[in-house]
Amino acid sequence: MASPHVVCIDDFRPQARRRLPRPVFDYLDGGADGEVTLRENCRIFDDITFRPRHAVALPDCNLRTRVLGFDVSFPALLAPVGYSRLMHPDGEVGAARAAGLAGTAYILSTISGHRLEDVKAASSGPVCFQLYLMGGRAASEAVIERARVAGCAALVVTIDTPVAGLRERDFRNGMKELMGGSLLDKIPFLPQIVVHPGWVASFLLDGGLSKLPNVVIPGKGPMELVDVSQALASATVTWDDLKWIRNLWPGLIVIKGVLTGDDARRAVDEGAAAVVVSNHGGRQLDGVRPSLRALPEVVAAVNGRVEILMDGGVRRGSDIVKAICLGARAVLCGRAYAYGLAAAGQAGVTRALEILQADVERTLRLLGCPSIAALDRSYVDMPASWQ
Ligand SMILES: Cc1cc2nc3c(=O)[nH]c(=O)nc-3n(C[C@H](O)[C@H](O)[C@H](O)COP(=O)(O)O)c2cc1C
Repeated sequence: MASPHVVCIDDFRPQARRRLPRPVFDYLDGGADGEVTLRENCRIFDDITFRPRHAVALPDCNLRTRVLGFDVSFPALLAPVGYSRLMHPDGEVGAARAAGLAGTAYILSTISGHRLEDVKAASSGPVCFQLYLMGGRAASEAVIERARVAGCAALVVTIDTPVAGLRERDFRNGMKELMGGSLLDKIPFLPQIVVHPGWVASFLLDGGLSKLPNVVIPGKGPMELVDVSQALASATVTWDDLKWIRNLWPGLIVIKGVLTGDDARRAVDEGAAAVVVSNHGGRQLDGVRPSLRALPEVVAAVNGRVEILMDGGVRRGSDIVKAICLGARAVLCGRAYAYGLAAAGQAGVTRALEILQADVERTLRLLGCPSIAALDRSYVDMPASWQ
């Protein structure tokens, strides 16, 4: 179980760092290039300050909200996080189960170590599938059909990954060699792994490096991990591909990776049910605006036509409340739960969600606001230049 000393999400980070070998921790923690956007995603929340209404009695405080037609216990969903099974054997199954138990939704990455059917079955809540067009169209068609049959609640199409960003820490730690190189290639990078025998034991007991069970290439079978960067580089999704995806997927489509009003309008015109304002947690194009800063422009462009979600830098319940005040329906949490998963498996995700939910309730009560539905811009001050 997670340590009682974990009182906020940031307390999980050193625990994750201690348990994971450096290449795995840095894969989770790091961002692209100079990590400017990664840092700004978190810092920007400080630019928004609260305007509380004091001396208000709140016998009840309603955190529930509806996202994409389903009820969630509080407005935070679990973002797609690739390779979760490397962080802990509980992986995507444990995270999805924790999400369901907490009354919220889980978004499964294409780059998952567990079969999507097993992840869906593990959760009592909604499970959405995040799509990268990896492995070619036939592989994508097959996984979209599997997601439909399994009953996934929505298809989340990530549009900010025409190539993988340069995560310098991964490069220096030899992630590519460790995931797919020959033994000779791996040798220089192995010392940082063997100093974490606990992780090594759990990793080996879990079967070692698994293939990608949800990227099944016809005639070849599940994709090898070694192919992932290369596969992403030839997996660019375009607005034209969305028409093809639309024909295959009768349900809700969410477009993830929107940072401008123009892209948001385009996504709505293409039939998206929601957009996610996101810069991929600062892992793609470094130097783009932090997500929270892009939110008001997207809110204005969408003008209430579809739901707006946001992610990037959410580490506290007060961050969630600020994003809702600025017009998001809900947020996605990435590292906030992944640090918990890395530190303590499913129990760590459960604890992370408990912390965030309790934070949101406390923030609402301190604001004098009775519900998530009642939050609006009158509860915050934002810099004049944002207007
Ligand atoms: C380790 C890691 C792996 C990720 N893998 C994916 C992925 O496979 N697909 C995707 O759309 N986004 C992926 N993301 C981005 C997250 O879905 C989300 O946009 C981001 O984590 C939000 O920022 P935060 O970590 O500050 O909450 C990943 C993020 C991290 C940290």
